[in-house]
Amino acid sequence: MSQVLSSVNSVFSLSLILAQASSPAQAMRLVTTAVPSIAASHSAVAWHPSTSGEYYEQAPEDVGRLLTGLTGVARLDVAGSSACWAFPISSPLAREQVFLIVTGREDPSAQETFLLSVLAQLCGAVIASLYSVSEAELRGQADREREVAEARAGVLATSEARQRAILEAALDAVISIDQNARVTYVNSAFERTFGYRAAEVIGRDLAETIVPPSLREAHRRGLARHLETGQVTILNRRIEMPAMRADGTEFPAEVAVTYTGEPGQPAFTGYVRDITDRQRAEQELIASRARLVAASDAARQRVTRDLHDGAQQRLVAALISLQLAEQRWDSAPQRARELVGQALDDARLGLEDLRALAAGLHPAILTQHGLAAAVRALADRLPIPVEIDVPGLRLPAAIEAGLYFFCSEALTNVVKHARATCAGIQLEVPAEKCVVEVWDDGIGGARLGPETSGLIGLSDRIVALGGTLDIISPPSRGTMLRAAVPIPPATAGPVPLPGSSPPMVAKPAGRVASDRESCSAGACHRRRGSVIRSRGHRPRPR
Ligand SMILES: Nc1ncnc2c1ncn2[C@@H]1O[C@H](COP(=O)(O)OP(=O)(O)OP(=O)(O)O)[C@@H](O)[C@H]1O
Ligand SMILES: [Mg+2]
Repeated sequence: MSQVLSSVNSVFSLSLILAQASSPAQAMRLVTTAVPSIAASHSAVAWHPSTSGEYYEQAPEDVGRLLTGLTGVARLDVAGSSACWAFPISSPLAREQVFLIVTGREDPSAQETFLLSVLAQLCGAVIASLYSVSEAELRGQADREREVAEARAGVLATSEARQRAILEAALDAVISIDQNARVTYVNSAFERTFGYRAAEVIGRDLAETIVPPSLREAHRRGLARHLETGQVTILNRRIEMPAMRADGTEFPAEVAVTYTGEPGQPAFTGYVRDITDRQRAEQELIASRARLVAASDAARQRVTRDLHDGAQQRLVAALISLQLAEQRWDSAPQRARELVGQALDDARLGLEDLRALAAGLHPAILTQHGLAAAVRALADRLPIPVEIDVPGLRLPAAIEAGLYFFCSEALTNVVKHARATCAGIQLEVPAEKCVVEVWDDGIGGARLGPETSGLIGLSDRIVALGGTLDIISPPSRGTMLRAAVPIPPATAGPVPLPGSSPPMVAKPAGRVASDRESCSAGACHRRRGSVIRSRGHRPRPR
């Protein structure tokens, strides 16, 4: 009797302890260790017929078979075991089919069996309540996560809507593609620029929609190379390239492509701007500059003609009148006075003509004999030796005039600023362009400045011809101005003069010209010094 009371007592105290268990595994450990205090010399384990879990093991196969489908307390007939009892650990909430397996040398008594079955049910109830608590917690957590996700989705949807609105309002065409170059998004500006409706391009290969046929292969190769090697060719910079509208017409576009994919899921977005108008404006600017230069050169030629036909004629007429007057001074003084008066009128008119023409002259020597002769005439006026290496050929008139005035201003600067002992001019005509260099061995330091107009004018003149001007002029190391001008393909190109002149050295009177060895600043300049390249933009004032 005392044994029974102590067992009941054990179950009772255990029920109190079990209520404190924090996990099913802990509850089960308490139960199995308590079994010997209820049924002396018995031990217990928690088994499941077919699987292991958080607080139980998988029963051996033969036992598992016996447990399958078992609903109540049962004595198991297990080979090699004298007494083996199974107590279902069940409750309305318990989900697993787990048993408290009690083994001993003898069967437990009826009271012990009853207490063990109570204990197993108690354990089932505790485990079920632990599960339901954690389920409620999980549910609460899931609810909280769902709320956060919904809030995030809301924020995302708002920001996506805002981004879409921004993209839709953009003036540039925006187009997104996936890693297979399939179009995934286009904005309204795209539809306007390319003449496609969004639905017509979404899902299509980018190359087939907006890339001109001649560039498609290169485009595909570039994308494949990027995806394979990560090599960046056109990403994140502005490039100019032709694009194609829905109707197949092409237009110049400025394109910037950025990577917009997730890791492992490449995607790209391109921003395309139709620059037809801009390019036309640039071409018009160049054309208008060229027109200006051509007009001013034409004006110079006209002045030369005017000088010949106007002032020169009046001065000749004045001279003749004076000669006639001289002859009749004694015989016909009245007539002689008239002739002097006429000569004075002609001289006055000639002077007025000369004043009007003083703006500048187109050198006749350039028109008649070409650049080499004209440049030599320029060099002859310099007080220092000038090495001239200019082949005798004819270039298009506008280029000849441009290069002549380039050499003229450069040589004037040598005299005005360089303090040089020698200078040189070299002209080369590699394929489809001509390059002129004017160098000196003076003090250097030439620069485009806002306060002077000579070099800026040169720059404008050369840029108007579609060329570039380099100024190489480190302090104390001489100066080289290099103009490179393309020869338009429409023109006949350089034409050799009959009996082309070899390189020559202009010799100022009374001085010995330096040869290549002793006067080779040009050669030095080709190797050293930083280059200021002028492409027509004005230097900023310092
Ligand atoms: N060959 C040179 N050697 C040394 N300094 C030079 C040379 N050429 C130009 N410079 C410097 O560069 C400056 C700019 O030259 P630029 O021809 O523009 O002006 P400028 O000759 O002073 O005046 P202008 O407007 O009459 O030509 C000059 O003032 C001079 O200081
Ligand atoms: Mg000058």
